[in-house]
Parts: sequence; C-alpha cells; structure tokens
Amino acid sequence: MMRIAIGTDHGGFPLKEAVARAVKAAGHTVLDYGTDSLESVDYPDYAWQVGKAVQEGQADRGILLCGSGIGVAIAANKIPGVYASIAHNVYAARQGVEHDAMNILCLGARVIGPALVDDIVPAFLDAEFTGHQPGSERHLRRVNKIRTIEEKEEPA
Ligand code: RB5
Repeated sequence: MMRIAIGTDHGGFPLKEAVARAVKAAGHTVLDYGTDSLESVDYPDYAWQVGKAVQEGQADRGILLCGSGIGVAIAANKIPGVYASIAHNVYAARQGVEHDAMNILCLGARVIGPALVDDIVPAFLDAEFTGHQPGSERHLRRVNKIRTIEEKEEPA
C-alpha cells in the first residue's frame, strides 16, 4: 500500500475523481491536496504541495492534473527529489518509473478521459524502478546523472 498525493488546478479538476477512484481501486491511499471546484486557481500552488509531500516523504508518489499536464509537470520538477512527467499512455507510465524513477505522474484533463486514467494510473502505481536490479545498472547511472544536474547544474 502506498500513499498517493493528488493535486489539481481547475483545468484538471474534472478528472480528479476518476484518478482518486483508480488509486483506491489499486489498493492505495489518496492524500487529496485539492483543488475542489472549477473555480480558477494557479497550478504551481498545487504542484508545490504535492511535490513537497513526495519530497518530504509524507507521500510515496504523486499524481498531478491540469488542463494539459504540462504546467504542473514544469512546476513540480523545480522541487529537488521530484521526477515528474506527463504520461498519456500505459507504456510511458510504466517505463517512466522503471527506467527514470518518475515519482509524480502528470495528466491533462483536456487531453485524456477517465477510461485512459483507469489504464494509466495502475500502470504507474504497479511499476518499480529497475535501476537496482542486475543488468539494469545503466538506469541507476542515468538517474544519478539527473540527481547531479539537480545538485550542481551539470551532469558530472
Ligand atoms: C488552465 O487554464 C490551464 O492553463 C492549466 O490547467 C494547464 O493546462 C497548464 O499547463
């Protein structure tokens, strides 16, 4: 069981319930950081809350929503320890975790609908980072280079 932080702006709000349902159906706990209506808000505020929850360990992973998925992804990736990306298909949702240690999935509610959410969310939640498995060390090496860029603003 994982604790999954969910956050959205008004653009992503129409898909929030479908995401929460999919997280619970996969056997995980939802930590809901809002927003709770279609009233216009600023997506960085929600990306910040979910990103901090993941960075500080209050949540194991996060899912962020906005209209396109882009704004929340850009904002969340400014937080050290957050590896956020849009994945609007099952392959990317799984591989983003397995190869790239993605810990926040970003979705655009003006791009995909609830049926795709039902496939993408479990693919993201079931996946594990493979970089510590024999034969997959290259993934750990690459993620470590990302961490070095994060710390020093250069890859080595
Ligand atoms: C809000 O209208 C929209 O700009 C926002 O939800 C998001 O798509 C930004 O990336």
